Amino acid sequence: MHGRDFLTLRDVSPSELQLLLDRAAQLKAAQAQGTQHRLLKGQSLAMLFEKASLRTRTTFVLGMTQLGGTAIDLMSEHTQIGVREPIPDIARNLERWVDGLMARVFRHTVLNELADSTSIPIINGLSELEHPCQTLADLLTIREKRGELEGCHLAYIGDGFNVCNSLLLGSALTGMHINVATPAGYEPNMDVVDSARRLAKNNGGTLELGFDPVAATKNADVVYTDAWISMGLENEAKNRREVFEGYRVDTKLMAHAKPEAIFMHCLPAHRGDEVSAEVIDGNQSVIFDQAENRLHTQKALLVMLLRGDSAFCEIPT
Ligand code: CP
Ligand code: NVA
Repeated sequence: MHGRDFLTLRDVSPSELQLLLDRAAQLKAAQAQGTQHRLLKGQSLAMLFEKASLRTRTTFVLGMTQLGGTAIDLMSEHTQIGVREPIPDIARNLERWVDGLMARVFRHTVLNELADSTSIPIINGLSELEHPCQTLADLLTIREKRGELEGCHLAYIGDGFNVCNSLLLGSALTGMHINVATPAGYEPNMDVVDSARRLAKNNGGTLELGFDPVAATKNADVVYTDAWISMGLENEAKNRREVFEGYRVDTKLMAHAKPEAIFMHCLPAHRGDEVSAEVIDGNQSVIFDQAENRLHTQKALLVMLLRGDSAFCEIPT
């Protein structure tokens, strides 16, 4: 994966994804044991955030620091993507100074334009289309809690937006079964669904879309939801609260999943909207494990993109 972009989970093969998760587990263990792993010593990552962030910002900065490198926050009010100067010029400046760029943007096309303008790796830190870094952390968390990903049943309830799109691809790449229930008109991106269907077929997974949260949750190992009102959609808040009212993950809905099912959420969460407090703060919830795993999976991703897999041989065994 050395030198490649990570804009979508369509950018990785099933075996690359498995290796990424293995490397993330290795880095997690190294960090816990205090084993030296400064694999990106002297390297740097620029970060551009057009939208707010707690987890993505913290974990990329900390990840680069733990790997011996540096992260630089470009601060969108200074960079002014596409306003102060053209996007290709921004990319061509950055490649003279830094080894990679992570960007959180309103329009996925900005990521494509950045990637087309430079040879340094561009990482999608969330767009309206995908949130692939989140899915990496989610897959590691499911693997830790449930063992094998293959054959695992995931129910996604709510908005078919960025997080849902990446989960569809992540499930399809790992042979998971994913059932999505959204209100009509809020289905996931159909291009992504087509790609995910093809991948699922090759990897032994299945993918079902529907409108019924109960049907989607039946016998699930994992129940996942995301905000009803994603960043940038605040002006639709009133209408969305009405449309999504039947799509709250509460104890009644969780009762349709397997008794040992886990509850997942990318965060930030809105108790009383997409999830009840009882569920998200209850003992089936693994939300903070997911948040922790953002750090370990992104460290693995950074090493893979900035140096390649051979760098891992430097970790003392
Ligand atoms: N889940 C996630 O990406 O969190 P932030 O928006 O806080 O980065
Ligand atoms: N769907 C949410 C995810 C936040 C991490 C959003 O785009 O705001």
